[in-house]
Amino acid sequence: MVLLFISLHLIVNFDLSSCPQVSWCRETAFTYAISAAGVVNTVSRACREGELNSCGCSRAARPKDLQRDWLWGGCGDNLNYGYRFSKEFVDAREREKSYPKGSYDSARLQMNLHNNEAGRRAVSNLADVSCKCHGVSGSCSLKTCWLQLADFRKVGDALKEKYDSAAAMKLNSRGKLVPMHSNFNPPTGNDLVHIDQSPDYCLKNQSTGSLGTVGRLCNKTSEGMDGCELMCCGRGYDQYKAQIVERCNCKFHWCCYVKCKRCTKIVDQFVCK
Ligand SMILES: *[C@@H]1O[C@H](CO)[C@@H](O)[C@H](O)[C@H]1NC(C)=O
Ligand SMILES: *[C@@H]1O[C@H](CO)[C@@H](O)[C@H](O)[C@H]1NC(C)=O
Repeated sequence: MVLLFISLHLIVNFDLSSCPQVSWCRETAFTYAISAAGVVNTVSRACREGELNSCGCSRAARPKDLQRDWLWGGCGDNLNYGYRFSKEFVDAREREKSYPKGSYDSARLQMNLHNNEAGRRAVSNLADVSCKCHGVSGSCSLKTCWLQLADFRKVGDALKEKYDSAAAMKLNSRGKLVPMHSNFNPPTGNDLVHIDQSPDYCLKNQSTGSLGTVGRLCNKTSEGMDGCELMCCGRGYDQYKAQIVERCNCKFHWCCYVKCKRCTKIVDQFVCK
């Protein structure tokens, strides 16, 4: 059951096939981190919701700074268990093998373990105390509090920031990963690291697995990654008129269904050259 849960999670959240598995670039770093984070999140929550036999509500200690007259001990997300489970389960595939010191494989292994841990820490750093009021007519004279995980979206956003600032690493003479650029601060356990440069995603290249952006739909007015300027890598774009079918004039009928008409609309579409 829990495995099914986890694999669903992986499929939904990790469709990041753009960075090929042969390259250990910042996209790979993000994929590992968010996979590990997803396992912590799913398992911690499943414990709390009573879906697993091996764990239950969080038994985390009462935070020292919690106001004295508030109660500690609602059923919290079991972060401790989720964290340990993710460490064993997700790191296992890396720990199975050992590689010669100083080899590329050993660098890759250190990178993956580092990023798995960064993902787990993102979940744990964002978890917080949540409380509920009791007392006469909502007076909130009494509060019960528990440990609560952040919305997974927030974990994703935090890791996206780490992705943007991921540190390039290399092996030193003793076989340990160190920053490629010694004038940069070394990454902490919360940061993402990578050992390869990302391939050029603008151009199709089979050996790196890059699909290129020729023929991709882009947004003419956006200045972001989906905008034609960035996505088409300066090659420009073609404009098409496309016909799309939409549901429209929807009416609610008692009770209970919604009936819609189908309308066709002509829209402008932009495609990278
Ligand atoms: C494809 O990528 C490889 C590895 O980065 C590079 O050596 C090669 O020149 C690229 N090929 C093309 C056609 O860009
Ligand atoms: C295009 O980008 C603009 C600006 O970011 C946004 O408001 C608009 O909804 C986007 N259009 C589509 C079709 O996604």
